[in-house]
Amino acid sequence: MSQNDQKKIAAEAALKFIKGGIVGVGTGSTVNHFIDLLEQVKHKIDGAVSSSEASTERLKSRGIQVLDLNATGELDIYIDGADESNRHLHLIKGGGGALTREKIIAGASRKFVCIADGSKLVDVLGEFPLPVEVIPMARSHVARQLVKMGGTPVWRDNFITDNGNLILDVHNLRILEPAKMEQEINNIAGVVTNGLFALRPADILLLGTENGVETIGTGY
Ligand code: 5RP
Repeated sequence: MSQNDQKKIAAEAALKFIKGGIVGVGTGSTVNHFIDLLEQVKHKIDGAVSSSEASTERLKSRGIQVLDLNATGELDIYIDGADESNRHLHLIKGGGGALTREKIIAGASRKFVCIADGSKLVDVLGEFPLPVEVIPMARSHVARQLVKMGGTPVWRDNFITDNGNLILDVHNLRILEPAKMEQEINNIAGVVTNGLFALRPADILLLGTENGVETIGTGY
């Protein structure tokens, strides 16, 4: 089964978790499959809160109303992809650059269902470069601090986040204590947030594999 088909079956599995109400929607190619499927049950839901301009546009094009998180209160469910996950459901996210809004919605949701293809499951996080969103004037300062922490930050070329900021992708990290590193990086002045989701991990991971969907985690 292709990687794209694995993403598709993970997205299909997530659809079963949608019971109504307002759905938090992430960003990326796996979530795009989910949005396309969500159209089939749009009569059951009251709308979506979106983590990016790209997802907003796709949701609207499928006739799904997009709501402001400030107007919705806490959400029952958030569906999003990941660039890496370990078996504790600590994630690296932000390959698509939407990490800050994704982290806000994950934090505002009672349940976070992560959907991904099988290549995303790893033993130790960090093979995928860790995205860090930074305020533009802080770019070099933050990069120096990340080097002190053992990483190799690379400024993402020609990329501005939906919030008007920059991304540093940090290579060469072997992240053995994800929650500690998440806090340490967030403590650097000028960092908006980083792509580690360990303080608020996923509750369940639906992993598309050659043999169907593997469910990891008992948090649901
Ligand atoms: C975007 C993300 C995505 O969830 C992550 O990059 C996974 O993307 P894809 O589903 O395309 O593999 O964090 O900021």
